[in-house]
Amino acid sequence: MDPTRLLGPDSPLGLPSPYWFTVFFKVLGFTLHTIPMNLWFAGVLLAMLLRGRGEHARTCSNRLMNQMPIIIALGINFGIVPLLFIQVAYYKVFFPATILMAWPWFSIILMLIPAYYGVYFYAIGLRGGRTAPIHRTAGWIGALLFIAISFLFANGFSLMTNLAAWPALWQKTSVAGAPMGIALNVADPTLWPRWLMMFGLALTTTAVYLVVDAAFFAVRESDAYRRWVSGFALRLYTVGAAWFALTGTWYTFGTWPAELRQMMFGGSLAALTALTALGPGLPWLLILAQSRKVKRPLALATALAQVGVMALNAISRQVLQNAELRRYINLAAEQVNVQWSPLVVFLITFVAGLGVIGWMIVKAVAAARQPAPAKG
Ligand code: HEM
Repeated sequence: MDPTRLLGPDSPLGLPSPYWFTVFFKVLGFTLHTIPMNLWFAGVLLAMLLRGRGEHARTCSNRLMNQMPIIIALGINFGIVPLLFIQVAYYKVFFPATILMAWPWFSIILMLIPAYYGVYFYAIGLRGGRTAPIHRTAGWIGALLFIAISFLFANGFSLMTNLAAWPALWQKTSVAGAPMGIALNVADPTLWPRWLMMFGLALTTTAVYLVVDAAFFAVRESDAYRRWVSGFALRLYTVGAAWFALTGTWYTFGTWPAELRQMMFGGSLAALTALTALGPGLPWLLILAQSRKVKRPLALATALAQVGVMALNAISRQVLQNAELRRYINLAAEQVNVQWSPLVVFLITFVAGLGVIGWMIVKAVAAARQPAPAKG
């Protein structure tokens, strides 16, 4: 069966914004989503593992988990931005793919709520000084649910471009032609390295966050703690970057068809591919330069370099996504019918939202510099 028969129909309304606008905000939104998402993907698991590993490791774990509820709230909101634009421009492939896996896709919400509450409950437990077994169980449930959710996201977005697999999945999981929505993209060889690659990136982002936290927010912690973070972040980043390199090699050379590899390694895209692959080297060097002591200007530079790593990753993914879909949909041929009022409202709220987040960060840094409140 021709998979294009399962594509969504053309929208009679046309695209509400020019393609460049849609793709710019899709990539920007995904970059903003990945930074906090990486922190709960790898960070919650890491915090749970660090608990019993000595004084500084426990402090690090407590700091991460105390901040996690806010990080999760920010990351989920940022996730809405690329989701919006995917639905606008890629609706013909996004909706069929997520209908084929409707129940696992829907279960993300059912898992996200207990994961979020689990982390909150653990953070509340920390305020009492010692966490009870019930708090620790909630923390572990949160960590595992976030990993399960990440697997479903990787499934959804890899299935979206794996049209060749749709007919067989549909036939296998439908009753009288109606899909039951229980498919997963697990037979796709790109799924596993793609998912694991994001975990490697998540380890690196968590390492950078620990450096930034030690430099700007952990003012009330001891110098010994900050020194511990310097060494630990370097080891964590090294593991994450090696993981990213291994799974990235598997993804690129083990699962891409030859023509895709030729495209990504040829012409002007070669530079993008090389920068995406080698990007983690710069934050690693900057963390290495702080391996004895975190320094604020260098910590800031490390954070900016890591944002660059995430942005390069998002741009490369976009180029790849378009190349994978080129045979099936032609975005350039879609009629554009600009909807000014929602577009302007989006821009105003987006900029205002970023402004509020900036203001919150400034306040958090200022609050961290205040002397600790007297006990009793
Ligand atoms: C309900 C809140 C969330 C929304 C709206 C959201 C949205 C998105 C979107 C739209 C993308 C794809 C962006 C693109 O390809 O341009 C994405 C990717 C991803 N998200 Fe989220 N996300 C949410 C929560 C989460 C959670 C809780 C996790 C768990 C760790 C997660 C993990 C991931 C991963 C691993 C990817 C990359 C998947 C891949 O393409 O391989 N997200 N998210």
